[in-house]
Amino acid sequence: MIPVAKPCLGKDELDNVIEAVKRGWISSKGKFVQEFEKDFCDHLGVKHGVATSNGTVALHLALEALGIGPRDGVIIPTLTFIATANAVTYAGAKPIFVDSHPNYWCIDPEKIEKYVTPEAKAIIPVHLYGHPSEMGKIMNIAKRHGLFVVEDAAEAHGSEYQKKKAGSFGDIACFSFFGNKIVTTGEGGICVTNNDELAQKMRILRDHGEDPNRKYWYNIVGFNYRMTNLQAAIGVAQLEKFDEFVGIKRRIAKSYNKLLEDVKGISLPPEESWAKNVYWMYSVLIEDDYGLTRDELMKKYWEKGIETRPFFYPIHTLPPYKSRESHPVAEKLSKEGINLPSFVELRKEEIERVAEIIRQNE
Ligand SMILES: Cc1ncc(COP(=O)(O)O)c(C=O)c1O
Repeated sequence: MIPVAKPCLGKDELDNVIEAVKRGWISSKGKFVQEFEKDFCDHLGVKHGVATSNGTVALHLALEALGIGPRDGVIIPTLTFIATANAVTYAGAKPIFVDSHPNYWCIDPEKIEKYVTPEAKAIIPVHLYGHPSEMGKIMNIAKRHGLFVVEDAAEAHGSEYQKKKAGSFGDIACFSFFGNKIVTTGEGGICVTNNDELAQKMRILRDHGEDPNRKYWYNIVGFNYRMTNLQAAIGVAQLEKFDEFVGIKRRIAKSYNKLLEDVKGISLPPEESWAKNVYWMYSVLIEDDYGLTRDELMKKYWEKGIETRPFFYPIHTLPPYKSRESHPVAEKLSKEGINLPSFVELRKEEIERVAEIIRQNE
């Protein structure tokens, strides 16, 4: 079976974990957590990093630090992983769904302003499947309307908008280090920011709201959202290979593109002129004139021992968030999109095997 994703782990990860275990630093205290936060910030060119137990709570922590709460609205793309909407709900706020851009699949900046109601307090652009959102336009809209921006960069480690790293634009950006991400800590996440005050707030909120100057004194209700030293031990070793992994992801995409570019009814993943796509998941659209539907193609893959994934359902179509409004671009992408295997250790012959199945329909 060729899986759609798997982590690339080696001796360095193992050595770091063994060191953490031998020294007994297996909870959230220990040198690897700070090292991981610093290394990740250095890669991104941001000032502060607050590592968390996963990417979902990173988003929640960011919203709490910004003071988002009941009666607030948060603008998000409808085509994203459920965690983006759930984090808004955890904060007591309401997600406001916006359609996707047909060319590059992230939130469509031209459609955002229609949803800037008096309740709207923030925008969460999601850099979907490794392609950055159009951050220039989004930051302008946010500035014009006094909205906070929290980038959901869970899927976009190393991705760039106009040669600047995704995750370095918003008030806060959140990453995930789940096992299928470009850099992993098993489960894990981080909030990054250039704002000293927000960083301090997130550190306090991450640790139950404890007053940094007074042990066991709590002025606010916080959370236990800490990353463990074991997670960070893996992460520190992974960050050594960050640029290499991004390079490999881009090479895998290039190989697939070459093999699939002339197949009728297949739309290749986007890379806008202003973007560096890191192709977290190499994804194509199966259009009407391909012959098979996306789901028929997925079944064919499965029978041949290859795992694929469908695109996310638009969140406004899911039971907890169901709305009557239609977002046609996201709905179409969701029906046509498929993620193909694209993990770092995927071999050339495997890429050819995966591509061959799409080509066989010609
Ligand atoms: C867009 C997006 N946001 C948030 C998350 C949540 O991250 P985690 O799985 O680490 O909680 C993910 C997921 O994996 C994601 O893809």
